[in-house]
Amino acid sequence: VANCFESNALDGIRVVISAGPTREAIDPVRYISNHSSGKMGFAIANAAAEAGALTTIIAGPVNLATPENCQRIDVTSAQDMYQSAMQQIGQCDIFIATAAVADYRPATVAEQKIKKNDDTMSIQLTKNIDIVSAVASHSNRPFTVGFAAETQDVERYAKDKMQRKNLDMIVANDVANNNIGFNSDDNAVTIFCRDDDSMAIAQTSKQQLGRLLIAKIASQYKQ
Ligand code: CTP
Ligand code: CA
Repeated sequence: VANCFESNALDGIRVVISAGPTREAIDPVRYISNHSSGKMGFAIANAAAEAGALTTIIAGPVNLATPENCQRIDVTSAQDMYQSAMQQIGQCDIFIATAAVADYRPATVAEQKIKKNDDTMSIQLTKNIDIVSAVASHSNRPFTVGFAAETQDVERYAKDKMQRKNLDMIVANDVANNNIGFNSDDNAVTIFCRDDDSMAIAQTSKQQLGRLLIAKIASQYKQ
């Protein structure tokens, strides 16, 4: 099955993929982050390279080997990831945002380790820039694909995100199902496109799903 996607569907096309979580520093020893493993993004990168794409992964902190024939840029925070994405934009035909970017970061980063004092404490947070929106609204925009992790009203929220972020395509996964998604080896998704086309992919390995997504992205990109 795998071999039928090892076509030349993306021969010479430059694909950039954001993957994994970001880490937002609180002080020199602490951060805010999430459970994203980066597996989905790395599987898509692997499939893109198999399809002949010149593939770059902008990776947050993950424990994964770089797929064969992919270039990898390691970043830590959302701000780092944003800068890296902006640097890639001139050399990018397709941007696929799989990263679980932290929505907020601490408004200030303490220079020294914060000491324990009162029984309660709070940290002021400030919103991070939306990376995929910035990519999709660039004057030299690539074909832009986003992901949407939702726990309810998946179709409505996903389509709304596609509109708001000016995306060409969005891949929705229902993270209310604990067995699939965020940190597992399997996933199930529904893809929504601008032309109202949609396609559901039943639960399968992220490796296989990566190939199916790349096949769909390649056909939409060429239209
Ligand atoms: N994304 C991004 N930069 C951010 C936040 C999200 O590039 N600062 C991208 C993700 O990589 C994903 C898409 O936007 O492709 C949707 O992410 P998601 O967290 O589902 O959407 P948000 O807009 O952050 O909305 P919310 O978390 O409130 O559902
Ligand atoms: Ca978010």
